[in-house]
Order: sequence, then C-alpha cells, then structure tokens
Amino acid sequence: EPDTLDAVVSLTKRRGFIFPSAELYGGFRSAYDFGPLGVLLLRKIREAWWSYMVRERREVVGLEASILTPPAIWRASGHLEHFTDPLVDCRSCHERWRADQIDGVCPKCGSRDLTPARAFNLMFRTFVGPVEGEGAEAYLRPETAQGMFVDAQSVARAMRLRPPFGIAQIGKSFRNEITPGNFVFRTREFEQMEMEYFVHPSVAAEAHDFWIAERLRWYQELGLEGDWLRLREHDADELSHYSSRTVDIEFRFPWGYGELEGIANRTDFDLRAHAAASGEDLSVLDPVTEERYYPSTIEPAGGVTRAAMAFLLAAYHVDEVNGESRTVLRLSPHLAPYTVAVLPLSRKPALVELAHEIFADLATIVDVDYDETQSIGRRYRRQDEIGTPWCVTVDFDSLEDRAVTVRDRDTLEQVRIPVADLVAHVRERLAA
Ligand code: GAP
Repeated sequence: EPDTLDAVVSLTKRRGFIFPSAELYGGFRSAYDFGPLGVLLLRKIREAWWSYMVRERREVVGLEASILTPPAIWRASGHLEHFTDPLVDCRSCHERWRADQIDGVCPKCGSRDLTPARAFNLMFRTFVGPVEGEGAEAYLRPETAQGMFVDAQSVARAMRLRPPFGIAQIGKSFRNEITPGNFVFRTREFEQMEMEYFVHPSVAAEAHDFWIAERLRWYQELGLEGDWLRLREHDADELSHYSSRTVDIEFRFPWGYGELEGIANRTDFDLRAHAAASGEDLSVLDPVTEERYYPSTIEPAGGVTRAAMAFLLAAYHVDEVNGESRTVLRLSPHLAPYTVAVLPLSRKPALVELAHEIFADLATIVDVDYDETQSIGRRYRRQDEIGTPWCVTVDFDSLEDRAVTVRDRDTLEQVRIPVADLVAHVRERLAA
C-alpha cells in the first residue's frame, strides 16, 4: 500500500492536482500548491460540507473570521500555554523530532542521545505594523474555532439564535508542526472545516453522539465506505486541554489508520474562558425557564486538505479494460474535479461548433472539461485518470441526429442522449 501513496502523489502532480510549493526553488518545507484540478476538488469538498452542515440546516450559520489574531484570544483559549508538542533534539545528527513519535531513538541516525523533551508552541507568531515587539504581536490562527467563540454573542444577536445553534467556518489555519509530512496529511498551512454547535449542557452528550453519526455519514456518502473509516475514542491522557470527550473519525491511510476529523465535546470551556478574560457576560438566557447558563459546545473539526488526500487515496484504482491497464479515480461525482468532459471526435469545424455549444450548456450547471486533442482512447484514459464520471463524445452522427454518446467512467457503458436532453440527463445522474 505505500505504493499507492507514491502513485497518488505522482498522479496528482502529473495531472495538476497538487504540486510541491516553490519547486522552482527546490521546494519549501512540506508546503504544497493546489493546481487547477486540486482547486476544483477542494471547492467540491467545501461545497459538499457547506451544503450538508450549513445550507440544509435551519439552525446553522456561517462565519469567516480573521486569520490574524491578537494574543488575548490565545491567552484566554489556553493555546499560548497548552498548544504545544514535546520537542527533542538528537545530539548526534541535530535533527529535531516530536518526542511522542520516535520512541527514544533518532529515526535518522539511530542515536539514543536525545535532549529531554521541551514544550514547543505550535502557533506562528508575527508582528503587525512597522514596529516589531511587544504590543505588536499577532498570531496566525492554529484553528478556525476560536473565531466562532469570540463572535458567538454577536452572531447570536444578529441572527436571533438561541441554543441549539451552530456557527460554521471553512478556512486556513497554521501550525508550526515539528514534523510535517506524508504529503498533505500534515502541513504547516492547511485548511479546516469546523462547526461549533452550542447546546444546553444537559443535552451535550446526546448532541455529541448525533454529530459523530452525522459526520461519519457525510464521509460515507462521498464514497468512504466499509473499512476506509473507523471511529476512535480518545484516551483521557490524549484529550485536548478543552475537551471532555473526543471521538476521531480515522481513515485507513497507506501507513495505517490516522485522524481525518475530530468530534469534541468542548463543554463550556471556551465561552467561559473568553467571558473571564474579556469581562463580558457570554451566558445565554433560556426564555422559558429564565435560566442563565453557559452553553456546551460540540465541535466537528475536519481538514479540507486532509480530506482531499483521503478521497484521492480511496478513489485510486488500477484495473483492466480490453486487456490494457487503466488508472481510474473513482471519485464521487460530487467530488470529481470535472463532472463531464466534452470530446469532439475530430477537429472538423461543424463538430467543434456543436461541442462548444454543448460545453456552454453543461457549464451552466457543472464543471466541464473540453478536449479535442489526441485519439479518443487517450482522451478517455486521461479523463479516467482525473476521475471525470461522464464523457460526452460528439461524433459525425451527432450532426445528423443531434444526439451524443455519454460514456460512464465506472461501468464503461455508453448511451446515446439527445443534445437537448443532456443537461437534464447530467442533473439526473448527479442526483442518483
Ligand atoms: N478546533 C479543533 C481542532 O483544530 P484538530 O484535531 O487539531 O482540532 C482538526 O484539527 C482537523 O484539522 C484534523 O482532524 C485534520 O483533518 C486537520 N488538521 C489539523 N492539523 C493539520 C495539519 N497540520 N495538516 C493538515 N490538516 C490538519
């Protein structure tokens, strides 16, 4: 299975999903750029998440908070003190490691001569304005979550919300990881999709179970079925400083199961902490019982970039078609970068003209690729390799019967569809 990782890394580079960042200058410290197809895949993941978590729920709203944040937030949230990893140096080869990942032996040189572990804070610090120094400090947020806590009262007031309600956010977060790696599994700049769901403490445990099941279902519906996923309960000693219970959704990565998303019960830790630090009363009033209380927060926290990697790994297949091997990404049609590819059989102007028309029609509802180069067989292979579920071939008969052939990526079945019905046909297959 480690081969799958290499194959996927190479495919994603070759086909324009993910490139090592700053490769022209030798790359930059496990940073990655998302190319044209990667951008489409990330957009689809965000869109699927937003639709499921926000648009389809009456009581959930969105937020985009600032990435640059004042130290006060992180002092209150406990991140300045607790958001650390244990760092050790190898005295022989001077490599640095996370103590909890290496078992007392330097993986590079085999030496056991390591420094004692010291707490290394993972937050990126910078300075705002022309003067560096105290008072000008800022942090790049290491999670999107604090934005939801700090703005909870403003959001609730503006939107007239009372628990249960959720605030959701998708955006970049930054952590100065000691050992980034495994492609985009762990990077220093990454994208999160998080929701803080505020409930009365008496129903927090129940809400936690609800969101664990919901989040699992979301991944399963997008194709991660069977043993691709498992749930793992955090042991008491690995819980974050704010959590009373966390369950991870883990994905079967080529090196073993690893975290894809964490669903935590953050209790009333964050709201109380910000209330204490700011001097604001952040409690809410139950209009029926007239009870004032601090809501508990259930937090499903996933990674957009990490999910992209999981979807790509699970989708990667090599199979045989007519005695020839083909690489195919069996991505859900909802995640595939292009939903449809329009392929005129030749560059004959009449065919190209009709193909352009079809492209324009389909592009009003989905992302469409257009390709008129090379043999049709090679074009099919390319679309299989980037996961396009349906190829529309415009041939010479199309000029007579105003119909086209639609080829299915997985079954290879081909059906003839009138051009006039094509948009409806694609809509129907997407909904199936
Ligand atoms: N607000 C809670 C929180 O941030 P987390 O488990 O530290 O929880 C949530 O992060 C998710 O963000 C992870 O499950 C993972 O998908 C993603 N994530 C965290 N650190 C990451 C990193 N260095 N690189 C890529 N994704 C990361």
